[in-house]
Amino acid sequence: MADTDVDVTPTTDDAPSSAPEAPGSEGGSDLWSVNDAAALYRVSEWGGGYFGVSREGTLLAFPDAGASSRIDLYEVMKGLEAREIGTPVIIRLPGILEHRMRDLRRAFDNAINEASYGGSYSCVYPIKVNQERHVCEAVRDIGAEIGFGLEVGSKPELIAGLALTQGFNSMPLVCNGFKDAEYIETVILAAKMGRNILPVVEQFSELRLIRASAAQHDVLPNFGIRAKLATPGVGRWAGSSGMRGKFGLSVGEILHAVGFLKAEGLLGGLKMLHCHVGSQIFDIRTVKYVVSELAHLYVELVRAGAPVEILDFGGGLGVDYDGSQTATDSSMNYSLDQYAADIVYRVKTVCDEAGVPHPNLMTESGRALVAHSSVLVCEVIGSREFRSEPDRTLVDLALAADEPPQPLLDAYDAYRRLGADDDLLEVYADAEHALAEATNLFNLGYMDLRSRAACEELFWAVGTAALERLYDELPDALVHLPDRMADLFFVNMSVFQSLLDSWGIDQVFPIMPIHRLGEEPTRLGVLADITCDSDGRVDRFPGVGGVKTTLELHAPPADAPYGESGSEPYYLGIFLTGAYQETLGDLHNLLGDTNAVHVVLGPDGRWRIEAIVEGESVREVLSYVQFDPEEMRRRLRQDVESGMEEGRLTLSEGARLRRFLDDSLQGYTYLE
Ligand SMILES: Cc1ncc(COP(=O)(O)O)c(C=O)c1O
Repeated sequence: MADTDVDVTPTTDDAPSSAPEAPGSEGGSDLWSVNDAAALYRVSEWGGGYFGVSREGTLLAFPDAGASSRIDLYEVMKGLEAREIGTPVIIRLPGILEHRMRDLRRAFDNAINEASYGGSYSCVYPIKVNQERHVCEAVRDIGAEIGFGLEVGSKPELIAGLALTQGFNSMPLVCNGFKDAEYIETVILAAKMGRNILPVVEQFSELRLIRASAAQHDVLPNFGIRAKLATPGVGRWAGSSGMRGKFGLSVGEILHAVGFLKAEGLLGGLKMLHCHVGSQIFDIRTVKYVVSELAHLYVELVRAGAPVEILDFGGGLGVDYDGSQTATDSSMNYSLDQYAADIVYRVKTVCDEAGVPHPNLMTESGRALVAHSSVLVCEVIGSREFRSEPDRTLVDLALAADEPPQPLLDAYDAYRRLGADDDLLEVYADAEHALAEATNLFNLGYMDLRSRAACEELFWAVGTAALERLYDELPDALVHLPDRMADLFFVNMSVFQSLLDSWGIDQVFPIMPIHRLGEEPTRLGVLADITCDSDGRVDRFPGVGGVKTTLELHAPPADAPYGESGSEPYYLGIFLTGAYQETLGDLHNLLGDTNAVHVVLGPDGRWRIEAIVEGESVREVLSYVQFDPEEMRRRLRQDVESGMEEGRLTLSEGARLRRFLDDSLQGYTYLE
């Protein structure tokens, strides 16, 4: 850990942009360097300065986005191995979270100073983005120092928010989401108790609940109103906004609300105007429109006598998952500084023109604060590749039949033409046609299994050769080839538990090996998880100019295939997973929460594990679906006993099976 060499955090200028020469080739070139790996996996594009590649070919995290303090993630994995903490494991890096929060503070402070803006800025972290207690507590502790708070959106989150802010009375706690009388009353009583808590009205009926609770407890509560803006949201969360959005009050309803509040003597409590047009706003133009619309609404409310002090622009600050800096779903076309400057400048301009005071500004940035701070590390437990050489024995036997079927002869002919100077496109097309014909004949009962298998072998050999030779400039007709020929890398994880947005909304996440980066990857692969679901795969990765459908990975050593006992683990890191993935995940196949560790840098510059959060055990996940693990254990033990009594199991086999069942119930839900 203590090595002081300067490590590679390449910029686009100094990093060569080479891709592996020819996937499927037997070995890497001698010229490969860790710079090539950093460029290939686009570390500086998506890493936000928090990740880089060491001279030793391992992946480094830089918690403060500077190269001086770093955590070697491969070294951490070795440390976890020694502690018998298995994969998949989330490595949480609170240092990055702290840096993200301070950077947001800095960006708004700068913008406010530069524009001589009269109000202040605060961010309230929406705990739904990552509700894990350690994460929330870290946000709370740093937030207390820099004037940030928390946001909650449901009753359980409200209780968590109240508990988290205990002893932090001045910390803002914004309450969104649908509310019933109990929710409103709890908030109003918490405010009476001295908390800085602000419910945001999402529906007109909530105003009536506020009125009732205010009357019952004889207080004038502070609250906000969420505006339903005309500005449409963008991307996958476009439905959060627009006239037909699910949340908030339309302009007409807001006017009506002001009348209602005046009549009820409650207008003095209207302290905040709020909006949220969706997560991951990828286009800065949307930010500009939203800010202008909300600022003008604010001006009108002030003119109508409402004492609004805070403009809350909700969440949406994006994360550049694929590093392309474009207005596309997994990216964004603006920087944090631009975001802050646009909000501050636009609100100031609108207010100055109208002659109203500058309000305090607030955002509910979640994704942008926590995404970078978690890395999911999983192990490759096997791989399947298509052979570039067909099984000669099989092919020869099939050809030696009395009357070899025509598709087999065609496939063989295509394979033989690989050695000649023939047009590769034509050869590939012939092999593909032969395979299709072979499949048809087999399905009709006119081809035997051996001939069909030989056809497949020959087709894969032709396809692999075509890919190797044409990879650098794939003709249009073969753009599908990398996908078709890609190896399958099996990884010990569940996409549904740990990477739900990859499956559900095609979100791209950066994925790369966290070691062996000094070695050229020679395979192209897609990832397949251990669920029994064909959707449990990842085949979208950050690539040059957008998304690529295969990932360059390392072949297993010839004598030690991945996942076999005695072979070295091959670890892949899945990055930017700190936002939403951990809590959205589900129990598909009863694969539960993964292990998680919090890794920080000590004063001596060495990393240490601050907390270990064990993943769920088999016992726990079974009980979620109403199985009683104790009862199951008793019954299974009885079964084993009968097996021994009836002589179907020896005593030692019975003892082994019983131990296995006991251990399994206590054990991790993933392969160990
Ligand atoms: C009301 C509200 N605020 C804040 C957020 C957080 O958004 P983000 O994570 O994009 O910052 C959300 C998420 O969709 C939300 O619904």
